[in-house]
Amino acid sequence: MNFKKEIEKRRTFGIISHPDAGKTTLTEKLLLFGGAIQEAGAVKNNKIKKSATSDFMEIERQRGISVATSVLAFLYKDKKINILDTPGHKDFAEDTFRTLTAVDSVIVVIDVAKGVEEQTEKLVEVCRMRNIPMIVFINKLDREGKDAFDLLDEVEQKLGLHVTPLSFPIGMGYDFKGIYNIYERNINLFSGDSKKNIEETIAFDNMENPELEEIIGSKAATDLRENLELIDGVYPKFEKQSYLDGTLQPVFFGSALNNFGVRELLDCFVEIAPPPRPKKAEERLVAAEEEEMTGFVFKIHANMDPKHRDRLAFVKIVSGTFERNKPYLHVRHNKKLKFSSPNAFFAEKKEIVDISYPGDIVGLHDTGNFKIGDTLTEGEILHYKGIPSFSPEHFRYVNNADPMKSKQLNKGLDQLMDEGVAQLFTLELNGRKVIGTVGALQYEVIQYRLEHEYGAKCTYENFPVYKACWVEADDKNNEEYKEFIRVKQKFLAKDKRGQLVFLADSSFSLQMTQQKYPSVKLHFTSEFE
Ligand code: G4P
Repeated sequence: MNFKKEIEKRRTFGIISHPDAGKTTLTEKLLLFGGAIQEAGAVKNNKIKKSATSDFMEIERQRGISVATSVLAFLYKDKKINILDTPGHKDFAEDTFRTLTAVDSVIVVIDVAKGVEEQTEKLVEVCRMRNIPMIVFINKLDREGKDAFDLLDEVEQKLGLHVTPLSFPIGMGYDFKGIYNIYERNINLFSGDSKKNIEETIAFDNMENPELEEIIGSKAATDLRENLELIDGVYPKFEKQSYLDGTLQPVFFGSALNNFGVRELLDCFVEIAPPPRPKKAEERLVAAEEEEMTGFVFKIHANMDPKHRDRLAFVKIVSGTFERNKPYLHVRHNKKLKFSSPNAFFAEKKEIVDISYPGDIVGLHDTGNFKIGDTLTEGEILHYKGIPSFSPEHFRYVNNADPMKSKQLNKGLDQLMDEGVAQLFTLELNGRKVIGTVGALQYEVIQYRLEHEYGAKCTYENFPVYKACWVEADDKNNEEYKEFIRVKQKFLAKDKRGQLVFLADSSFSLQMTQQKYPSVKLHFTSEFE
């Protein structure tokens, strides 16, 4: 098959939600439709249990399983669908942000009773900033929940989206009768039978047809007619281009657990979701159809077996074809590398592949060459953008607890940071090291892994920081900048890439600093322009 056709077939996306909204359940149902798994429960193991906040051993166990579910691929209606796993646990939010750099679209899952929750807000904001096409799936319609119109309002207001429903519930919870599919113009009656894989729909184009009363009862028929009229008057008509531009988000309703409304979602998804989109590099915009291979590392899984330093770097192919045993340029190291056993992912399995196309993810065995954000090309000097670091929420000094093992500690810290577990800052004043994380849980994970994988021991000490801000100055010779560096020396550090960071100890001091040194720009992420 020709190269262009292969690209056109690919749909690489992520499902994002607040924990418990139903992401895992929906993923599983999508895989069932694709015939990639035979029974429910297969993906479930990957979930970090709620108890995990205090049980990081559980996370270690999950880390093993999650290699298998990092990319779940299946075929549906001749499309190759790659679902990239995004951890829901908020302590791993940064992993999710990074994975979002590798998706071409997303599905946002919202719990009908809880509405828009915190984690969804954060993740959608990232997608909105990058104009990633989004489809919203409102889940758990079999339960009592919020009024559908109120929810659509909430989605618009809290998530800053412009929505248009492509399906609409008929009743809800106890009275849930089914869904009217506005996109396909049919009615899907709810039976509550989750085993049912094929849903029977009743084509229904003319709402005035009195048969509607017979099918769903007179009260529901009146309500549905009114609701559809309202939708027609209030919401914009669905336009694929607006969805692709990230300016309009279609909404579906359903119940993942009952496998209800999922087929409608998937059918619409394969029809409208974009194939691999062009990606910005610092140097230029790269299109999927370009012949030369380019790709970037968005995730690293390391040391699954502590005895062997095996790491798997996940590379998203942006353009060209990735071929086994062909030399590629590792741009940061300016070194050519060959990969004799690149892995592709299919359902829950990974296998060695000879060729991969744009949109695909390949897993490369690595002995420490890669870090997140690295670019591979056929020779061109390119740096893919869009894998910024965000200000961590927690900061602690890290101390070496075993002076004989300082080499091991440094190596361990170095590799764990390459993997993106946390961020390391080195204070300008005294060279002390500070670890910044999104969640407190990571400190336990780091301590445990340093000990078990590198034989090093560390302790932590509190370091009260409100936010890390990356410093930008147009003119480093101007007096204001020099004064800033002198006065704030105690609060300045370098991140791993050597970028200067201001560690503000309170929101007040941040404000004051900004006022006092207006020419020094302080950014909450490491990528700015
Ligand atoms: P997550 O990955 O977004 O965290 O959510 P997950 O799919 O694990 O779903 C969270 C809980 O919500 C699960 O129940 C799941 O069964 C339930 N759920 C998902 N979709 C629906 C739905 O359409 N209707 C209803 N009523 N429930 C739904 P749990 O009790 O936490 O887990 P489990 O014991 O079922 O595994």
